[in-house]
Amino acid sequence: MCISCKRVLEEDGHHVDYVLTGTEGAERAVAGDYRLVLLDLKMPDLAGMEVFDRIKARRPDLLVIIITGYATIQTSIECIKKGAVDYIPKPFTPEELTLAVDKALDTDRLREENAFLKSRLVPGNETIVGRSEVMLDVIKQIEKIAPTDFSVLLHGESGTGKELVAKAIHVASARRDRPFVAVDISSLTPTLVESELFGHVRGAFTGATQTRPGYFALAHGGTLFLDEIANIPYELQGKLLRVLETRRVTPIGGQQERAIDIRLVCATNRDLAALVEAGTFREDLFYRINVIPILLPPLRERAADIPLLATHFLESAKRKSAARIDGFTTEAMAKIVAYGWPGNVRELKNIVERIVATVDGPRIEVRHLPPEITGRAPAVSPAEEIPKNVEELKEAKRAVRELAYERIEQQFLLRALKEAGGNVTRAAELTGMQRTNFHALMRKYGLRAGEIGGS
Ligand SMILES: Nc1ncnc2c1ncn2[C@@H]1O[C@H](COP(=O)(O)OP(=O)(O)O)[C@@H](O)[C@H]1O
Ligand SMILES: [Mg+2]
Repeated sequence: MCISCKRVLEEDGHHVDYVLTGTEGAERAVAGDYRLVLLDLKMPDLAGMEVFDRIKARRPDLLVIIITGYATIQTSIECIKKGAVDYIPKPFTPEELTLAVDKALDTDRLREENAFLKSRLVPGNETIVGRSEVMLDVIKQIEKIAPTDFSVLLHGESGTGKELVAKAIHVASARRDRPFVAVDISSLTPTLVESELFGHVRGAFTGATQTRPGYFALAHGGTLFLDEIANIPYELQGKLLRVLETRRVTPIGGQQERAIDIRLVCATNRDLAALVEAGTFREDLFYRINVIPILLPPLRERAADIPLLATHFLESAKRKSAARIDGFTTEAMAKIVAYGWPGNVRELKNIVERIVATVDGPRIEVRHLPPEITGRAPAVSPAEEIPKNVEELKEAKRAVRELAYERIEQQFLLRALKEAGGNVTRAAELTGMQRTNFHALMRKYGLRAGEIGGS
């Protein structure tokens, strides 16, 4: 029975191991990297219930499906009460087996996704949307470092979500009820940066007609976000470093130092380490702000996020207007995915909002897309920077391959769905894939059947 269950489930895309005794089963189940256990209650050595208890005691998160005969039906009900997700009465067909397993895994995934979405709400109901491995990693990092007071340096091209991440860090920290103050250094007049950051007293300089607190003082107790930190004038870098080290600020022209308690998050789209090399950014300041570096990759390097983000922005734009749009046509989505997105997520958001404001009809079609998306060749190298060492070279190779592969995988899905007129079962058949596997791939790219139909 183990062998045939293994065969059936592996055909369905699962990885399956089996053991033949309860003792071994309880050990392997908790030690391995499994998500689900199929547990036959009738074991040669231990009582089924005992095995179940041992597993649940050490791995409460593990999904357990009970396989039960007539004689053990009572025990299986006990197990369900104690947290088994389902039971399959013997004898059963391959379909009953795969159905139970898929249902359990699906329910679990939904639960995970809900928990994931809830934990990601940031001010103004903004959500960090992402499905690609890098973004899931970024989200994990945020959760890990938010409760600490370590300085964070966010690195990424314009529009990759640096400010959104800074806010998410603030909201996930103990400072969430105190101010979040964002300052774009590049928007300040260079001569005024000092007074803007640290404040000034009345009469400190020409034009200082009033005493004003600086952004450091305004952010007291909360988080200070310094965007475009590379633009901080060199003369001011020493003072900024001193403030960060002493946690004290003196306004220009003031006598009194003031203690400041802030969590600092900085962002840049420049290579700060290179600026340190070049001598335009102080090394000591760099180390001070770069305690936790977080890299936000450009959108073109995380193709899996594009349909998800496009749909997300469509939904929120629809909520703000009266537009009735169901989604994107296959071709339109394919163009959107293939585009290089030099302006990253911000560009995607702006374009979707613009389309929603002008399009009137059930679907967003290729003709609604701006010419830069429909006209330009897709290939944009993800290897922006030339690798400096063999590790980086290997990483670049991996990234390029993954990106190329993901593009193909997406096009493959879209094509099949289109040929099948949006019918997932039919599309899976056309490709020779199991429906569940096909569906799992669709989820990876945030594709929903209803949005794909023949266009
Ligand atoms: N992963 C994401 N999920 C949802 N919205 C995002 C995401 N990344 C960026 N955005 C949105 O895109 C826009 C640009 O992001 P922003 O944080 O200002 O980028 P940056 O500071 O890197 O230039 C914002 O409206 C932001 O809410
Ligand atoms: Mg920004």
